[in-house]
Amino acid sequence: MALSFLERHKMVERNITLLAILAFAVVTIGGIVEIAPLFWIDNTIEKVEGMRPYTPLEQAGRDIYIREGCYLCHSQMIRPFRDEVERYGHYSLAAESMYDHPFQWGSKRTGPDLARVGGKYSDAWHVQHLKDPRSVVPDSIMPTYQFLAERELNAGDMSAELQTLYRTGVPYTKDDIAKANDDLKAQANPDADATDLKARYPKAQARDFDGDPKKVTEMDALVAYLQMLGTLVDVNAPAAQEVLAKEKGR
Ligand code: HEC
Repeated sequence: MALSFLERHKMVERNITLLAILAFAVVTIGGIVEIAPLFWIDNTIEKVEGMRPYTPLEQAGRDIYIREGCYLCHSQMIRPFRDEVERYGHYSLAAESMYDHPFQWGSKRTGPDLARVGGKYSDAWHVQHLKDPRSVVPDSIMPTYQFLAERELNAGDMSAELQTLYRTGVPYTKDDIAKANDDLKAQANPDADATDLKARYPKAQARDFDGDPKKVTEMDALVAYLQMLGTLVDVNAPAAQEVLAKEKGR
C-alpha cells in the first residue's frame, strides 16, 4: 500500500537520522549549485577598457600608502548610491581594483574616499596637503607627512616586485619586469624620455611630482599614485555599454 504524502512527511519528521541525511543532501545540492559555476568561469570581473597594471612608480607609491596606513582613514570604493556618486563621482567598477594586491576598499572613512582623487587637485596641492594638511584645509585632522618629501625613494628591486605581482595574476609583460627600475626613475624625472613607458602604460603621467627635481622622493611616488587613482578607466563608457546591453535585452 502506497504511503500518502502526509504519512511520508511524518516518517521523515520523526526519524532524526533520515531527517539529517535528507537535510544534508539538500544543503549539498544547494551548495554545489552556488559554488560550482565559480570553478568554470575564468573571471568574475567584467573586463573594462583602459584598466592596466600600475607603473613601478605608482606601485611604489601604493606601497607607501599601505605602509603609512592611509587606508585606515580613507576608502577607495565609491558605492552606487546617489550621495556618494554626487560627492565622489561615478561608482567604482570591480575592474578598477582588479590589479590591487591587497585591495584598498577600506572599511573606514575618517577622511573622504580617494578612488577618484586623481586629477582633482594639483601636485603642489597634494605636496602641501601631505606636508601640512591644516595649511590647506584648516579643520583637517589628517596627520602630517612632512618626512615623505625629504626621504629619498628606496623602493627596492621593482623588477622583483612586479614579478611577484605577475605571479598573482597581474599581466605585466617581460619587458615591463625587465625595465621596472628604469621606468620608476623615468616617470619621476622631467628630463627623461617617457615615450616607451607611456606606450606600455597608457595614461601614465610622467613628471616631477614633488616640486624637487633633484631627487626622487617618497613624496614623488605617493603623489604619482594619488594622481593616477580613478583616471585609467573612462567610467562613462562601460556605463553607456550597460545601458546599451539593457536595451538589447541581453
Ligand atoms: C587620521 C586619519 C587620516 C589618515 C591616517 C590619513 N588621512 Fe587623508 N584625510 C583625512 C581627513 C579627515 C581628510 C579631510 C580633510 C583634509 O582634506 O585634510 C583627508 C583628506 C585627504 C585627501 C584629500 C581628499 C579630497 O578629496 O579632498 C587626500 C588626497 C588624502 N587625505 C590622502 C591621504 C594619504 C595619502 C594618507 C596617507 C599618507 C592619508 N591621507 C592619511 C584623514 C586621514
